[in-house]
Amino acid sequence: MSESSRHPFLTGLSKHRGAKPTILVIFGASGDLTMRKLIPALYNLSVDNLLPADFKFIGFGRKQMPNEDFREFSRKSIDDFSRRAMDADTWAGLESNFEYHCGAYDDLEAFKGLQNRILEIEKEYNRRFQLLFYISTPPSVFEPIITHLGECGLANHGSDEELIPKVVIEKPFGKDLESARALNTIIAKHFREEQIYRIDHYLGKETVQDLLVQRFANSIFEPIWNREYVSNVQITVAEQLGVGTRAGYYDQSGALRDMIQNHTMQLLSLTAMEPPVSLDPESIRDEKVKVLKAIQPLKLKHEGGDAIRAQYTEGLVEGKRVPGYMEEEGVPASSFTETYSALRLSINNWRWKGVPFYLRSGKRMARRISEIAVQFKQPPGILFGEGNKYDITSNVMVIRVQPDEGVTLIMNSKVPGLETRTQPVKMHFNYSTTYGSNTPEAYERLILDSMIGDSTLFIRGDETEESWRIITPLLDFWKEYGKTGLEHYTAGSWGPLASERLLWENKHEWRRPGN
Ligand code: BG6
Repeated sequence: MSESSRHPFLTGLSKHRGAKPTILVIFGASGDLTMRKLIPALYNLSVDNLLPADFKFIGFGRKQMPNEDFREFSRKSIDDFSRRAMDADTWAGLESNFEYHCGAYDDLEAFKGLQNRILEIEKEYNRRFQLLFYISTPPSVFEPIITHLGECGLANHGSDEELIPKVVIEKPFGKDLESARALNTIIAKHFREEQIYRIDHYLGKETVQDLLVQRFANSIFEPIWNREYVSNVQITVAEQLGVGTRAGYYDQSGALRDMIQNHTMQLLSLTAMEPPVSLDPESIRDEKVKVLKAIQPLKLKHEGGDAIRAQYTEGLVEGKRVPGYMEEEGVPASSFTETYSALRLSINNWRWKGVPFYLRSGKRMARRISEIAVQFKQPPGILFGEGNKYDITSNVMVIRVQPDEGVTLIMNSKVPGLETRTQPVKMHFNYSTTYGSNTPEAYERLILDSMIGDSTLFIRGDETEESWRIITPLLDFWKEYGKTGLEHYTAGSWGPLASERLLWENKHEWRRPGN
């Protein structure tokens, strides 16, 4: 194992992490994700001098496009979406390495054409390159792309283990347990597990990585991070946006597949996992899988079950009237797709038995905010328990994933004065005040890590299957009942009232995120 992959969280982003000479091929090159995230990420890596000296980027897509137009498309995507303004010199150095290859994903000849172009580049440079295939297409074409890469030999290009080709796969990784297993099987025919990088971009977010540092680089949290002290854990991923132009995809997906199965489950496993024996990718991923394995099957009932689903109706977001989900363009009249879901999960292990983990995610919520809130038990109310002088709350540690990244500790304190009154107060650590606000985007970290060969922040095959194991019975249950049991919430609110039930049953309450 290389030095860089042994210390993924400690080495950080620096040139010596050693990206190898790389040809990056993005399938879905003219798509939304490429435009909004991937090309700006390449640009920012280049600004930071983190791309390898020998670097080529081939955009692969179905649209006809000369190289010049693709470079123009790339320049515009940087102008519109990069976190840093376009620097003419950096772009001049980068753009000559961008080119476009037009082809259909189900056409083996198009892949042979790509292979020829790769061989030409290698001849021109008189050296081998690491090939990094980034699949950013709709999932319907994952299979032909992977199969063709295998069939024309690109999955095993070259004989140098150091430069072994890698494949990065965007979500959604399957739509249920069966399809995820099938996809794993297809990929495994052509790529070994160490060549496969399944993306969950939440793992590339700074605060998500910081969670492990907070937990395991401090001695004060770990002793109380268990069922003796923790009352419950609440993970919220709330968005203000609606489905926008993505109804075609979203209506087939819904909040459970789109956000809960991947992003919130990842936050849960990092919050709940045992300390890994080291920071190498397999040790960390082993611990994450163990947590998922310990999650109990969900109780599937309309009354008293472990899940709630709902759709947004018309409402006000930031004072602006927005339509309900059923009125969004492209949503079929028969739709019962949930735009919000909340789960109550039980982790049946030594550390967490009896501590509910509540997960929720929704579109068109009051604010865009993602956070993990670890809610501690109340102290015995002997001294400050009674009377209205004592406003005592449970301690809460909140890891604010976005926006306004940081950590807050809520505790009780004496109000100044001659009387003994108490009040909850907050201790804040803000990324922006401590480190400045221009932190790298998740995709910068993830593209760099895949080039380096560090798979820590990517999902292993067994991990994705475990998380589908938990979710799939619920998907089937909801499908069977259609609109029955589907709740509604007003756009701009914190979700349906019914979701409170999940917590009331345990005498808990949702926190107001951001507070
Ligand atoms: C994506 C989902 O994975 O994550 C989108 O498909 C969602 O529906 C997005 O909007 C949210 O990501 P972020 O980084 O903006 O929280």
